[in-house]
Amino acid sequence: MKRKTLTQYLVEQQRLKGAVSAEVRLLIETVARACKAISHAVGKGALGGVLGSLESENVQGEVQKKLDVMSNEILLEANEWGGHLAAMASEEMETIHRIPHRYPKGEYLLLFDPLDGSSNIDVNVSIGTIFSVLQAPADAAGRDIEEKDFLQPGSRQVAAGYAVYGPQSMLVLTVGTGVVGFTLDREMGSWVLTSENMQIPEETAEFAINMSNMRHWESPVKRYIDDCLAGKTGPLAKDYNMRWIASMVADVHRIMTRGGIFMYPRDARASGKKGKLRLMYEANPMSFLVEQAGGAAIDGDKRILDVTPDGLHQRIGVILGSKNEVERVQRYHLED
Ligand code: AHG
Ligand code: MN
Ligand code: MN
Ligand code: MN
Repeated sequence: MKRKTLTQYLVEQQRLKGAVSAEVRLLIETVARACKAISHAVGKGALGGVLGSLESENVQGEVQKKLDVMSNEILLEANEWGGHLAAMASEEMETIHRIPHRYPKGEYLLLFDPLDGSSNIDVNVSIGTIFSVLQAPADAAGRDIEEKDFLQPGSRQVAAGYAVYGPQSMLVLTVGTGVVGFTLDREMGSWVLTSENMQIPEETAEFAINMSNMRHWESPVKRYIDDCLAGKTGPLAKDYNMRWIASMVADVHRIMTRGGIFMYPRDARASGKKGKLRLMYEANPMSFLVEQAGGAAIDGDKRILDVTPDGLHQRIGVILGSKNEVERVQRYHLED
């Protein structure tokens, strides 16, 4: 059977469905090419000298890994000169990165978490890249892009996706017409369509949460996890399984594949009051993908995609995955 490549898929989306503009098509191709380069570096591991930490800290107060910085540079360099972007923003950069004046400027904004799951790099566990595409506001046409131009609710994303670097490298993408998955053919160097219509089952019996934070959780989260732990004789009347990879990309990819619920809730810690994950380059793209696959994504009581950001690095509670479970957790929040 002849399978479609990412290029073919995007041309079809542009031609048949009008779902993407030529600029967005090129942009996604460029991001995918950068992910291929990151996948290659990840695959070399110690042989490529890519493991380990640097001395530097990022704006989040995290010690940067070599691969955090390398991946950020790969994405910046790949996307600077194509002419489709006005500016970029990243977990690893405090402020926005405008397209240098020597290159033509496009109308889109790209946000990324260049390397997600940094704590798993040195232990050879799946990691990934997450990205989100917005359109610059119309009034930004004749001037330099500012941070405020990025601060749009996730519902305005025109595309979002992630690459997961695991036993296989995969790229999972939405342009607002459902979710598709591509597997990297390492010999041919191309992304090949292997999942045509990813759908998250509405019901699940598998949850993902970092249980070590239990004592800090808010009561609706405690209530839901207690219900899960109660098993068949509890209110949910089924035995639950638990997974926690600690790479959001890998945990979400499992949910995209076989369902489940993923939670990194806000909690009572000073550092946890707004959650750990970042709205603009983690929560928003993942929420767009999850909704496009028939799932749901909330911060506790409300839909993540409706939140208007107040800063590039804003944090937020994240509860996403199988629709019926997420809606139950939302109900627990509203009843609280
Ligand atoms: P990043 O590596 O991009 O900073 O993101 C790490 C995030 C996310 O991938 C994961 O779900 C979560 O941190 C894991 O946190 P804990 O170590 O607290 O479980
Ligand atoms: Mn980080
Ligand atoms: Mn991350
Ligand atoms: Mn990261």
